[in-house]
Amino acid sequence: MAGSREHWGTRLGVILAVAGSAVGLGNFLRFPGQAAANGGGMFMIPYFCALLLLGIPICWAEWTMGKAGSRLGFHSCPAILGHLGGHRAWRYVGAFGLLMPTVVYLYYVVVESWCLAYAWSYLRGTIDLGSNPAEYGQRSAAVFTSFSGDDADGLVFRGGVHVSVYLWLATIAANFALIYRGISKGIEKFCNIAMPIMLLCALCVLVRVLTLPAFDDGSETRTVLAGLGFMWNPKPVQEGASTWSVLGNPKVWLAAAGQIFFTLSVGFGVIVTYASYLKPKQDIVLSATTASATNQFFEVCLGGLITIPAAFLFLGIAGASKGTFGLAFNTLPIVFQHMPAGRLFGFLWFFMLFLAAITSSLSLLQPVIAFLEEALNIGRRASVTILAVVTASGNLFVIYFSRNLAALDTLDFWMAQVGILIFGALEVLLLAWVFGARRGHQVASVGAELRPPRWMFTVLMRFVTPALLLVVLVAWCSFNVRGYIDAVRQGGVAAYGVVVILGLLAFFLVLVRIGDRRWGAVASSAQARSEAGTETRR
Ligand code: TRP
Repeated sequence: MAGSREHWGTRLGVILAVAGSAVGLGNFLRFPGQAAANGGGMFMIPYFCALLLLGIPICWAEWTMGKAGSRLGFHSCPAILGHLGGHRAWRYVGAFGLLMPTVVYLYYVVVESWCLAYAWSYLRGTIDLGSNPAEYGQRSAAVFTSFSGDDADGLVFRGGVHVSVYLWLATIAANFALIYRGISKGIEKFCNIAMPIMLLCALCVLVRVLTLPAFDDGSETRTVLAGLGFMWNPKPVQEGASTWSVLGNPKVWLAAAGQIFFTLSVGFGVIVTYASYLKPKQDIVLSATTASATNQFFEVCLGGLITIPAAFLFLGIAGASKGTFGLAFNTLPIVFQHMPAGRLFGFLWFFMLFLAAITSSLSLLQPVIAFLEEALNIGRRASVTILAVVTASGNLFVIYFSRNLAALDTLDFWMAQVGILIFGALEVLLLAWVFGARRGHQVASVGAELRPPRWMFTVLMRFVTPALLLVVLVAWCSFNVRGYIDAVRQGGVAAYGVVVILGLLAFFLVLVRIGDRRWGAVASSAQARSEAGTETRR
């Protein structure tokens, strides 16, 4: 079968590739804002509960599914889910493991191109907010608008193609060049280089931020230590409530669960594909856990100590309380303007963000590449070309409707906030109930360097994780879904976004239908063989 002979080169390579997928914009931009707004240090209690009860079980489930698929030489979610579920219907469920990464890619890569734009501009020294601190905010916002087109719809402004279009072209060229080179020569090699560079860049910026002297803005003097306190001191979500009340607030628990899903890249089907390139006897539990731990280190120790303390130092509470994109692209350039050698640190920071983003966007592309190769029995060149055309059209949709980041927002809501909860639940249910928790545990134990506790499969994946997911899903929808459904009803970008999602879903379902027959034949003969094998080993 096309492409099925590919493998990761080394164990460190697969760990760095999965960690590269997980470490992304979410770690550096999304996490600090979520933690600061949801109780500071208190947020870490729901956060670690979500990590242990939702994140890690689903992560292990995805690795286990990928490993089971690799035995048959399958790499795509529809083929693997169909095989594990023992019924063709699961192949169609697997289409969601293609839809979600594709849709997330549509906007993720656009944000990635902004990071590239900032890195490039800092390198050339073209970001200059002037010498009057009172104007920094306005000028920084203008720089962001000039890259993101956030104040107007369209691709062509004042007679010329918008600069964001060129930046985007450079970014997707880099993505597709790497993905075209394949698993070990493209993704793995790149992550092997990019991850250490990211660590170095982040450490440089961290040391710079933590050693900044106190700053006097004319009305008060602030220190970095106070900035760390602002971020991390346990505090109530609402003014005047007790600190412990944070733990009784459902929105805090939802924010923690959402952050864990997003940051670990679980519930998208991406890890299933990555794990399917392991050699059949390779360990998964230790690798999965190491990759997750690496992600948590980048998130809490680097993401949690840099942006907000620095923003607090120079801009006070108001500056440190901006949302994800405001913090990243409006506030931080002001921070670098104030900082000694800010141009250098600005470059290091945005270059690191770009690397963090591209190692993630590669992992969003690979599941579909693998799928096209398998379902249509075509080679890498053809599958890369098809995907490039499809995603480029979708990117243009996001760039066109960039005013107030409207398209990005709708796509993100339906996929990365609602979709993952549903697909994540289907994945654990499939593994723990349909395929069987014990069998899953056996698959995970072959070649294990860290033996997975059986109760993780028989208790957590069977009962606890699905039940919690249901609670989170219901609560999440009851808080948020109304506004988005109303927006879709009113038409405009919110409705177009849903049309794009449904269009892609139809596209994938048709292709799954084509792949269906081929997988059926491969699976039934191989399953018979592999089951005979397990019987004799028992
Ligand atoms: N984990 C990535 C981050 O922290 C974002 C992300 C979410 C992602 N889902 C993904 C990346 C799926 C790759 C695949 O920014």
